[in-house]
Formats: sequence, C-alpha cells, structure tokens
Amino acid sequence: MKILGIESSCDETAAAVVEDGTGILSNIISSQVELHSRYGGIVPEVASRQHLLSSVPVLERALEEAGASPNDIDAIAVTNGPGLAGSLLVGVNLAKALALAWELPLIGINHLEAHIYANWLGHETPVFPLIALIVSGGHTDLVLMKGHGDIIRLGQTRDDAAGEAFDKVARVLGLGYPGGPAIEQASKEGSPSYRLPRAWIKGSDDFSFSGPKTAVVRLARELSLANTPARNSVPADIAASFQQSVVDVLVTKTSAAANRHHVRQILLAGGVAANELLRQTMVDRSPIPVLIPEPVLCTDNAAMVASCGCFHLLRGKVDGWDLDVAPGLTLGQI
Ligand code: KG4
Ligand code: ZN
Repeated sequence: MKILGIESSCDETAAAVVEDGTGILSNIISSQVELHSRYGGIVPEVASRQHLLSSVPVLERALEEAGASPNDIDAIAVTNGPGLAGSLLVGVNLAKALALAWELPLIGINHLEAHIYANWLGHETPVFPLIALIVSGGHTDLVLMKGHGDIIRLGQTRDDAAGEAFDKVARVLGLGYPGGPAIEQASKEGSPSYRLPRAWIKGSDDFSFSGPKTAVVRLARELSLANTPARNSVPADIAASFQQSVVDVLVTKTSAAANRHHVRQILLAGGVAANELLRQTMVDRSPIPVLIPEPVLCTDNAAMVASCGCFHLLRGKVDGWDLDVAPGLTLGQI
C-alpha cells in the first residue's frame, strides 16, 4: 500500500511516498529556514506564500523519485494541525484537490502523532506498549501508546516547548536561528559550568522550561555588563549549561514514566530529538530499548505523515471533504 504524505504545518514544504507505513520511496523537503532567518523567526504570511510556491514542485519530485504515478497511490495523507493556519491551508487544499482528481481516500493527520510515526521508518519496528516523548518547536508531550490510535497524553509543557526554549535562548545569546542546532553547535565549544534551574514538578509528568530560559536571560544581561576577560567562552558555556538542563529533565521524566507504566520501549520524536546529547543521554540512562529516528526524520517531513496515514487507513479512519485545518490541535484529542 502506497501513501502520499503532504506536510506544510510550519516552515517546511514536504511530500513523500511511503510503502506499507515503513518503507520510504521518496522524502522531499523544501526548507524555508534561510528565508526566515533574516527575521530571526518564522513570519507566518511569508511561510504560507512560500508553501504556495514550493508545494507543486515538491509533490512532482516526490512522485518522480518514488517512480510512482497517481494510479500507484492508495491514499493521500496530509497534516491538518497543529500549526500555522495559513501554512496548513496550502497543504490541506492541495491534498483535497489531489484526492478529488485521483479519486482517492483523504486522511487528515495530527502533526504530533505523525512525529511519533517517524519511528516506524527505521530499521526496528516499535513494540507496544511504549512511552513516546515528542519534543518539537511548539510542543513537549509525553505519551503512553498501547497500540495504533491508542495514545494517552501523560504530560505536556506548562510554558515553553523545549524547541521554543532552545530558539529563545539562542536569540538571547546571539547564536542565530533556528536555535536548537545553533545551541548544539555552540555547546561543543563550551562546558556546562553554570548550574541552571531544573523544574521537576513532582508528582506530574508535565514539563516547564521557563526557569532555565529566564536564568539565561538574566545571566546574559549580567555578563555583558561585567566585561570579564573570559567573556568570549561565556556564550558557549551558557549554551552547554542550558542544553544540559533541558536534556536532564527530558530524560529523567521520560525514564520515570517508562518505569511507572512498565512499557517495553521508549520512542523519541520531534525536532529536538535531533539533538545528539539528548539522543545519547536517553540511550545511556534507559534500561529498556530506545528508538530514535535519524535526524532528518526528527524534524518536519512528509514521510512520517504518510506512515501515520497508512495506519489510519488500515483502521478505516479516513476523512471527508469537510476536513478543516486545526491550528490548535493537541495530542490530548486522540
Ligand atoms: O519538529 P520540528 O521540526 O518542527 C515543529 O513541529 O515545531 O521542530 C523544530 C524545533 C525548533 O525549535 C528547533 O530549534 C529544534 O526543533 N531543533 C533542535 C535541534 N534541531 C532542531 N533542538 C535541539 N537540538 C537540535 N539539534
Ligand atoms: Zn514538527
């Protein structure tokens, strides 16, 4: 079964063809990072207009690389939320037009559920029950998954998402956009010598990253006034300390939930799961197997959307022409 996936929720226009939910036949991603970097963050209207320009060429390449014609495709899966409304509209409208023209089922996909499915595209098939940590630019969710479509959200962030905190801290330290890779890069030149706060929120699987973020803002302000000789290595040390504090909390709380729910595996997903320290620390500290997609499948892509769509189709979960965009969709709604 071949599913065409379409993704346009944020600043990546992507299309992919995936076979049986696990085999990537093509995975085309057109990133708008350069376009938005001059503004220091994503400008929603610029993003939707760029999706409009990129979506058809990206789609054509995805079909061509997969060696697939419309006749070979069994269904169209498209992200319909959460995300930027104007960006989502471009992908959903394209998917509807294709489903109508090619007379195929249309499947609306929750972007956060799709991130989890990036783990079905690796060498090892995930085993239920499992705990998944989804760490992206807009969300930090810890979920218990007992089967396909059986997802219970255990915890979420009470303030900034992990990726959002990385992006804000990078901006304060003058490291550029997107912040996650910039902090990771800068951390390699520094050491985690600053003791930043960690919010454990006892008795809850929720997260909070505003503490370390605010501590970095305060440090940056104080240190630019201090003008110490060691000043040049300071941003790298602060970056490394921030990265360490976020990773400590993510790994500790994920392991604790896995232990409490007696699951068989831990899955990481979302853009922040591309972070090497998070990947390594999770594997090192977990007594059970940890599955993590390769970095290109952690950040936004359409192969994960197509994979998720395949499992929806197998359960007969398809949508009608009333499929709408849902910018505020959460994992709590599955
Ligand atoms: O999942 P994603 O591509 O888009 C959303 O659904 O939000 O995640 C993007 C987020 C950004 O905040 C970015 O800074 C972060 O993931 N990110 C990273 C890394 N690569 C991307 N954070 C930490 N380390 C990285 N290597
Ligand atoms: Zn994402």
